[in-house]
Amino acid sequence: MKERLRIAVQKSGRLYDGSMKLLKECGIEISNGNNHLRVTANNFPIEVFFLRDDDIPEYVQDSVADIGFVGENVVQEKNKEVDTIEKLGFGKCRLSIAVPKNGELRSIADLRDKKIATSYPLILTNYLKEKNISALIHEISGSVEIAPKIGLADAICDLVSSGSTLFTNELTEIETILNSEAVLISNKKLADEKKLILESLQFRLQSVKKAKNNKYVLLNAPNDKLDIICKLLPGMKSPTILPLAEKNWSSVHSVINESDFWNVIEQLKQNGAQGILVIPIEKMII
Ligand code: PRP
Ligand code: ZN
Repeated sequence: MKERLRIAVQKSGRLYDGSMKLLKECGIEISNGNNHLRVTANNFPIEVFFLRDDDIPEYVQDSVADIGFVGENVVQEKNKEVDTIEKLGFGKCRLSIAVPKNGELRSIADLRDKKIATSYPLILTNYLKEKNISALIHEISGSVEIAPKIGLADAICDLVSSGSTLFTNELTEIETILNSEAVLISNKKLADEKKLILESLQFRLQSVKKAKNNKYVLLNAPNDKLDIICKLLPGMKSPTILPLAEKNWSSVHSVINESDFWNVIEQLKQNGAQGILVIPIEKMII
């Protein structure tokens, strides 16, 4: 049988949808989502294992899976022997210390000798050590946010994404310990055949990521402004220029980066560009 790369993905929770969407954007067809523990892709040599996110680093380390999509927060906390290969651009969140709203705890200095509930004892221990604060760490594996209300702890250290969990539990953040997003991790000793499959997956992941960071731009410009407009639009090589039916006007096509998008659009307008169209890019292969 031909080799397949075994990828571990969160079974359910914050990263499930993003992970499945990313595989789909990479053109990998997986039927039957999370009802199964293990699913084979139809058109790519990959097998998807649906697991608890907390277990993914260990399974990848122990070669139960070859690679995994998992939060950086979990990778750091579990501290296993795996390689973090790249960031995946979804599942952004932060690990924060939060305290009851309107309580007497206001800053991390107030946490001295207090009890903090968390599922991240390792990261929290290191952080408190670094800040020279001795507090009691109470490790719990889920529903950390209710700990202060039921008298189990004075504060919590947990993941915050939209912030709605903190809000509903009348908690407020006082300190961010770590910013996190989903990353691709790999076993340290992949067989050569699996390395090749991983390379081909990474090529697709990177094309999807680049496409998300860039937009395709079409605009009309008077010919005497083309020089300055082309300088504003570097494009992949250089912008494409096509003559318009209207005399002395051209259509300019290019790609611009999301990060300076509005800035560039404003300058284009100021320099005579008209009818600017901005179109999302599905894949970008350079
Ligand atoms: C985290 C965290 C909170 C929630 C915060 O759980 O434990 O419950 O997400 O999100 P919000 O700010 O959008 O409300 P996670 O998805 O990591 O699940 P797990 O702890 O079960 O792995
Ligand atoms: Zn988890």
